[in-house]
Amino acid sequence: MHRIAVIAGDGTGPEVTDEALKVLEAVGAVEGFTYELTRFDFGGERYLKTGETLPDEALEELRGFDTIFLGAIGHPDVPPGVLEKGILLKARFGLDQYINLRPVKLYPNVDTPLKDKGPEEIDFVVVRENTEGMYTGMGGVQYAGTDHEISTQIHCTTYRGAARAVRYAFDLTRKRNLRKQLHLVAKTNVLTSVGGTWWRAFNEIGDAEYSDVTREYAHVDAASMWFVKNPEWFDVIVTENLFGDIITDIGAIISGGLGISAGGNINPEGVSMFEPIGGSAPKYEGQDVINPLAAINAMHMLLDHLGETNAATRVEAAIVGALNSGQIKSMSAGRMGMGTKAVGDLVASLV
Ligand code: IPM
Ligand code: MN
Repeated sequence: MHRIAVIAGDGTGPEVTDEALKVLEAVGAVEGFTYELTRFDFGGERYLKTGETLPDEALEELRGFDTIFLGAIGHPDVPPGVLEKGILLKARFGLDQYINLRPVKLYPNVDTPLKDKGPEEIDFVVVRENTEGMYTGMGGVQYAGTDHEISTQIHCTTYRGAARAVRYAFDLTRKRNLRKQLHLVAKTNVLTSVGGTWWRAFNEIGDAEYSDVTREYAHVDAASMWFVKNPEWFDVIVTENLFGDIITDIGAIISGGLGISAGGNINPEGVSMFEPIGGSAPKYEGQDVINPLAAINAMHMLLDHLGETNAATRVEAAIVGALNSGQIKSMSAGRMGMGTKAVGDLVASLV
């Protein structure tokens, strides 16, 4: 019995979550596993009503689940940063989900702006460090509101933090068993102190434990260009938090956009959380036009993480089947040629 916490969240989050749960129900019936869903209403509406984001007691409660499914967080009436820091980052940090795993995979029949590239050429994974870097909140503002205002937002990398992300990435490269190639993406020519720590972790651990994996290095600006020009050069990439945030949006767009891209916030020893990587898209709320494939893809990753390998394979194959059916005209909200629920029904019928 898998105990799954569900935070459907804001905007279109609840709609895409419904479709992901529909597919979960279908694949659960076929594969014969059981699960129990517990829903939490954290998000913008609750914050506006009660002033609460993710209370400490709730974080404790979430620790007791096998995994968490997250729809989307973000509300137009809440100032930027409140829900992001109060819910999303609080869960990531509080549950020590130190890996943000973001596959960049072009599925068949999905448009990519790279017209000459197909599914063979776009299939890599970004391992984004998820608890350090610029996201720790270190720094602050002094002399606020005056001409002397000074703001700092400090990048913090620890050797332990870099090392555990690097080790996860090496293991994943081995497990994928494709090109057996791991790229470190950093900016060692300018951010020399932080870059040095990552460089040391990457090479020390690589030398000691992973001589079968080829190591490559790319500066983050060059890697951004190569994602677009030569995505086939990449197998697995490991990088710090903010670089990972930015380059995975490039990864998302070359593999069909936020309509289909999913990610996992992973604590290999604890509770992990899976989410579509796009936002809550409030302008599409309640119109049955948002693409649920990213949420369904997040469910595929969640099942894989739970060890339900057959169910995960089935869900991914059903996504591919739905795409190959030719019925879904585009990955963009409002241009799919069918509704959110109909896409969910289609995938569920194919598992
Ligand atoms: C993401 C998002 C978040 C991030 C925001 C909403 C805090 O952009 O999951 O990529 O920067 O990590
Ligand atoms: Mn992002």
